Amino acid sequence: MNENPIGFFDSGVGGTSVWKEVIELLPHENTIYLADSKYAPYGRKSREDIISLCIKNTEFLLKQNCKLIAVPCNTATTNAISYLRAHYDVPFIGIEPAIKPAAIQTDTKKVGILATKGTLSSELFNKTHKEFTQNVNTIEIVGTGIVELIEAGKKDTEEMRDLLVGITEPFMISGIDYLVLGCSHYPYIKEMLQDLLPRRVRIIDSGAAVARQTLHILKEQNLLNESVKPGEHILYSNLQTQTLDSLTSEIANREVVLLDF
Ligand code: DGL
Repeated sequence: MNENPIGFFDSGVGGTSVWKEVIELLPHENTIYLADSKYAPYGRKSREDIISLCIKNTEFLLKQNCKLIAVPCNTATTNAISYLRAHYDVPFIGIEPAIKPAAIQTDTKKVGILATKGTLSSELFNKTHKEFTQNVNTIEIVGTGIVELIEAGKKDTEEMRDLLVGITEPFMISGIDYLVLGCSHYPYIKEMLQDLLPRRVRIIDSGAAVARQTLHILKEQNLLNESVKPGEHILYSNLQTQTLDSLTSEIANREVVLLDF
């Protein structure tokens, strides 16, 4: 059982930003990553549709004997993780926008949050938001169009820069000193965002927290892979493999596979 893989799914390639943090912290774990790119973006879908897609992805990963499922997708986590936990026995690790650390550390008391519509309108996001931002103003912006460009392999283009100029404008005028990346695709545009925003703005994401939580749950449930071999990784895409391949090319022992799914 302990050598069984950790499963990951996201609406597409973005969750690999989190997957990389997990395999860096847990180098002996085998993993399977499912990029559901055919159905991306999830961020504009209804809660019901997001839950159905999450069921489909979970059942695929369970058929591959995954011992734990990480959901490095804020939209899927905030809309579906409670459903998944209630219906399947396997442990699930979710991801949520890092509102708490930003709200604790901000000096200007103004925090930007960039996420999908599905995340910002979810009950879980609104609950966390209410709990941690009592003395802080938050400026929430939907990153419309960003996921599509990253999925199409256009993260470092002028087209992306032009899109981000418009998206970051409300952050520029509001005086934020923290920007929370509330979508797992966005770490791939962190540098461009940093370049567009004033230097005082610290951009944070939740990847490292997910990795720490994965380690914690594996230990707690006696599921750690004790093998000394480096982990092996299979990354599936149901649309095209080029973007997944280029975003993960630095990782050893990985195979990128096109899936009819
Ligand atoms: N990567 C996802 C997230 O963290 C979803 C993006 C999308 O499909 O809209 O929210």
